Amino acid sequence: MPHLINIQNLTKQEIMSILTKASEYLYIDNKTKKINYNHTKELDNKTVYNLFYEPSTRTRVSFELAAKNLGGRVINIDVALSSVKKGESLKDTVLTLKAMHSDVIIIRHSEDETAAFIADICNDYPTIINAGNGVTTHPTQALLDLFTILKHKPNIEDIQVSIVGDILHSRVASSLITALKKLNCKKIHVIGPEILLPESKLHFGENVSIYDNLKDGLQDSDVIVCLRLQKERMMHTLILNEEEYLHTYGITSKSIKYAKPDAIVMHPGPINRNIEISSEIADGKQSVILEQVTYGVAIRMAILALYA
Ligand code: NCD
Repeated sequence: MPHLINIQNLTKQEIMSILTKASEYLYIDNKTKKINYNHTKELDNKTVYNLFYEPSTRTRVSFELAAKNLGGRVINIDVALSSVKKGESLKDTVLTLKAMHSDVIIIRHSEDETAAFIADICNDYPTIINAGNGVTTHPTQALLDLFTILKHKPNIEDIQVSIVGDILHSRVASSLITALKKLNCKKIHVIGPEILLPESKLHFGENVSIYDNLKDGLQDSDVIVCLRLQKERMMHTLILNEEEYLHTYGITSKSIKYAKPDAIVMHPGPINRNIEISSEIADGKQSVILEQVTYGVAIRMAILALYA
C-alpha cells in the first residue's frame, strides 16, 4: 500500500486488516493491569518525518510513539522554526525531505487535499500519511474511532452512531461517516445547530440523517461522538454563547439520557470542558475518550507497519 490519503480509497477488507493488525500490538501488562504496546522491529532503519503545519498533541505524539515502538527513527519538524518561515513552499519542503531519503512523511495541514498533492509530487516514495487535512479528511482518526466503537459495540451494522457539534468544520465527522458506511453501519445521525451543519440534508448521502435538535438526534443512540467548536477553521466568527451551547448541544448528564443507557461517549480531543461536553460526562463511566487515545497508538503502529 503506497500512501494513506483518505478512507474513501480503502476497501472494507483493507480497513479490517488495519484494525486486526492494531489489535496484535496491544496486550495487558501483568504488573499494571493496563493496556500496553508490543515492541517490534518492523520499522528498523526507517526514518519517519512528522510534518505538522497545525497544532496537535495526540496525533503527533501517537505517530511518534508508534514509529518508535516499531524501531523506527522519528524526526519532528518544528514548522515554526523551519524554512517555511523564510517563505519555502510545501513542495520544496517535501522535496528536501525526500532528498534526505525519508521513508515516511506524516502530514497535517489546514488545506484539504494536501496529502494527495504531496503524494503526487513524491510519486513512489516516501510514503505519505494523512494526519488530518482541512475540513474533510482524517483517516487515522476514523480508524481509531472504528476500533474503539467495535471494542464496545461489535454489531456495528445494527447500532446507531450520533455525531454531535461542529459538523461543518469537522474532518473527524466526514472521515468517520465514510468509514462507518464502509462497515455497513446503517444508522448515522449528525446533530448540530443549523449554522454548523452542511447546507443540504443529503450532504452525507444514504444512511445519514441530519438533526438540529439534540433530543431527537440522540434518541436510541449506542455511540455519541462529541466534537469541538473548531473556531480556527471557521470563516466567520461564530456569535454563540458558550454556556447556551452547552445547554442546547452539549453532552451533559441531562442530554445523555436521550441516548441508550449503555451508550458510549467519544471525542477525538482536544476537549473543551463545559462547552461541548460537561466535565461530569468527560470523566464519567460512559466516556471512552482516553481509550481512543490508547488505541490510537496501536492503529498508527499498524498503519506504519503496513504502509512504510
Ligand atoms: C481533531 C482534528 O485535528 O481534526 N483532533 C485530533 O486529531 N485528535 C479534532 C479537533 O481538532 O477538534
